[in-house]
Amino acid sequence: MFKEKYDDYLKVFNDYAAGYFAKLKTTPALLKESMEYSFLSGGKRIRPVLTLAGADALGEDFEEALPFSLAVEMIHTYSLIHDDLPAMDNDDFRRGQPSNHKKFGEGHAVLAGDALMNTAYLLCFDMCFKGEKYVRAAHILCEYAGIDGMLAGQSADLLCAEKDAPIDEKTLRFIDEHKTGKLMLASILMPCVLAENKNYFELEQFGKYLGTLFQITDDILDETADFTALGKTVGKDKKENKLTFVSLYGVDGAKIQADIYASDAYAVLDGIDGDTSFLRELITYVRNREK
Ligand code: IPE
Ligand code: IPE
Ligand code: MG
Ligand code: MG
Ligand code: MG
Repeated sequence: MFKEKYDDYLKVFNDYAAGYFAKLKTTPALLKESMEYSFLSGGKRIRPVLTLAGADALGEDFEEALPFSLAVEMIHTYSLIHDDLPAMDNDDFRRGQPSNHKKFGEGHAVLAGDALMNTAYLLCFDMCFKGEKYVRAAHILCEYAGIDGMLAGQSADLLCAEKDAPIDEKTLRFIDEHKTGKLMLASILMPCVLAENKNYFELEQFGKYLGTLFQITDDILDETADFTALGKTVGKDKKENKLTFVSLYGVDGAKIQADIYASDAYAVLDGIDGDTSFLRELITYVRNREK
């Protein structure tokens, strides 16, 4: 049931994204090719699924949420392209294929990321003409992807690895809440503001817990999964001296932390009057995911 529903959202999203890319033209053509190479190479699409499922749970239709779901997945994909660069995590594989800079070279990979980011905001601006709540949704994405959000987390993540900074829990939680948590939060809050802020407080808590849970399981998989399942190199965090839930607590300790975040996320959903069954199962999926 959960899987079918996830696949339904995925199909709606992928069809919409394919339609958007089909109309996109760039000169040089390589710019579009490099954007598509990463964007259309798969990925779990959990952020856009969350946006569409959020709209569904709050009684909104997909039409309104789709451009925002595409925008958040474009921002996410750009962040992966840049995250893989030699200057950042130096990863050769992503989504089961050579990472963007391995295929196109570093300069073009930087530009592919920039292009996805700018296209994401163009999608948002096009929606803003429709009225104030769309401006608020766009603002959330911009804010949470930016200097008080994902970029702050990525910056702290790099600093920690470079400087052999003191390993402490506060810094770790800051990193994860920002580098991964904020975009996840934006994914659920965008449909929420489109639904006139229905359950804003609960969904804000839910997004925070789910986001950090997602990064904890990413840290666990970096240590325990294999390349074929994950589509990216494993064991990279240790090699790059990253501060992660696994480096701080070990795999078993990280699993306990994941359980805590999962149960906090379930508890928040109890406070929502409405059908949150899919969101509930999404927590379980993130907790137990194998890729
Ligand atoms: C990987 O994200 C990077 C993190 C923020 C942990 P995903 O695990 O969602 O990657 P894709 O989109 O499925 O490839
Ligand atoms: C990345 O975290 C978070 C981003 C904002 C891209 P990681 O560096 O752990 O993600 P992976 O493991 O490379 O996918
Ligand atoms: Mg990283
Ligand atoms: Mg990385
Ligand atoms: Mg990782």
